[in-house]
Amino acid sequence: MKRSYSKYSARDDLVWLILRPWIFIPRVLYILLTFIFLFLRILFQGNSKNKNVQKNLSKYLFDVITDLGPCFIKLGQALSTRPDLVRQDWLTELTKLQDNLPAFDHKIALKIIEEELGSPANELFEEFPDKPIASASLGQVYKAKINNSYLAVKVQRPNLHFLIRRDVVILRFLGTFLSPLLPLNIGVGIGEIIDEFGKALFDEIDYQKEAENALRFANLFKENPNIFIPKLEKQFSSKKVITTSWIDGVKLRDRALLEENNLIPASFIKTCVISGLQQLFEFGYFHADPHPGNMFALKGGNADCGNLAYVDFGMMDTITNSDRLTLIRAIVHIINEEYYLLAEDFQKLGFLTKEQDLQKLVEPLKEVLGGSFGAEVGDFNLKNVTDKFSKLMYSYPFRVPSRFALIIRAVVSQEGLALRLDPEFKILKIAYPYIAKKLLTDNSEEILGILIEVVFDKKGQIQIEKVESLLNILFRDSENINSDLIPVANAGLKLFISKKGSEVRKNLLLSLIKDEKLEFTDAKKLLVLIRDTFSPMNIAKSAVQNIISTV
Ligand SMILES: Nc1ncnc2c1ncn2[C@@H]1O[C@H](COP(=O)(O)OP(=O)(O)O)[C@@H](O)[C@H]1O
Ligand SMILES: [Mg+2]
Repeated sequence: MKRSYSKYSARDDLVWLILRPWIFIPRVLYILLTFIFLFLRILFQGNSKNKNVQKNLSKYLFDVITDLGPCFIKLGQALSTRPDLVRQDWLTELTKLQDNLPAFDHKIALKIIEEELGSPANELFEEFPDKPIASASLGQVYKAKINNSYLAVKVQRPNLHFLIRRDVVILRFLGTFLSPLLPLNIGVGIGEIIDEFGKALFDEIDYQKEAENALRFANLFKENPNIFIPKLEKQFSSKKVITTSWIDGVKLRDRALLEENNLIPASFIKTCVISGLQQLFEFGYFHADPHPGNMFALKGGNADCGNLAYVDFGMMDTITNSDRLTLIRAIVHIINEEYYLLAEDFQKLGFLTKEQDLQKLVEPLKEVLGGSFGAEVGDFNLKNVTDKFSKLMYSYPFRVPSRFALIIRAVVSQEGLALRLDPEFKILKIAYPYIAKKLLTDNSEEILGILIEVVFDKKGQIQIEKVESLLNILFRDSENINSDLIPVANAGLKLFISKKGSEVRKNLLLSLIKDEKLEFTDAKKLLVLIRDTFSPMNIAKSAVQNIISTV
């Protein structure tokens, strides 16, 4: 069978490059020398207090990455979202990697449009500008006009297939070779992780795939008034050109930019993070490149929920149903401080091998994750967790399964984006209540299954404290406590009277009749809990609040 032009295959592409030593050898040397110079310069000047030295250094960093081409630009973009890892003055420079790269020749872009769409740009569109408005790692974007509306026409950089194929093979080669030097034990599976990025990059240069992704993503959010996905213009899209409706919005680059436009940063953080969690935990299909260049703040939201548009559907990924549910379980286990069960989740996801003695991990996990909610959530962000985890990963055989490469990248970019808008942002403050609420309100069989697993022990007896801790999480950090009550109250009722709730009712009854005697303590606890949570007063208050907030 003929191999499709744009599919990545680690072995075939390696053979392809090894058979071309005149390409392979000079490129490897060039990359190595570039990195050695960069490393030396950072070593000598990285700590300098002189502003000019830092400015030149950050420019140098930008030039080096730009010069190395698309694969390296993609890596630099990931760094550009992390204000906690990269100095502020460097960050400003690295941000340019998102959509402010040197453009390629306009004439070549026109030629590509004509070849791909069958007619020249000035015939296809009423107005077509003579320079691009943005220029990113893989394509440059023109703002064209037709029928009184504006379109974003993205034209792919020339020769990308060759450049990416060559550099992914070399990165894999260098990565495997240098793996013992890499932090976080990541070296163990570095080959597979680079393969994962290779696959994603090869997919990304097929704009027909991007078009399908845009439609699929738009469909998932069609009921959500806060998320906007530009409309695909099929007749102006092909393998190397993709056209969508133009988004008039403000980049989520920093606080000041939003505030200048009378937009409230916190409202966008919330929409962004909730939408990210929804993609991961509900849809199982997510935007793997949520950096500020790919997201716009739109007018028309409210103080609590901003309106947000996504662009660039080149790098999307899916998560399997089983991984998705295991992740939800893992978060519930963290909330409930059940570290043995958490270790089991890690094992199931492939972060730990089957042979690992899980009992040994209970204490270290407790040390790393204990206090990740409640009072200490204030100090808790991904950087702190990764710092602490890195120690754990050296002492225990943790490894990152390659299928999590894009998920981790997405979460890291997402948190970085929020940190840029609010340095005090804590992802868990939104993530924990989201999961708690999902567990208590989602009606699907699978989530109900997890709830039952959490709330009832192996003997089928109710563990009131588990319900309590979920409710606590939900209400403690929620700024608008009462508006969260209605769905939970509804769900509580549904759970107890619906058909699906029969399992719950059975377990509840069984747990109340221990040793064939009626056990009153549990029943009493349950009643107090239900009374407090679903009290008419609370529900009425939340109803009023809801009405006020929707008026
Ligand atoms: N529909 C759109 N409306 C407005 N601007 C857009 C639109 N699509 C893309 N852009 C701008 O063009 C830039 C590059 O487009 P993008 O699709 O992200 O390309 P790449 O895949 O190369 O990153 C974006 O960062 C954004 O600034
Ligand atoms: Mg982009």
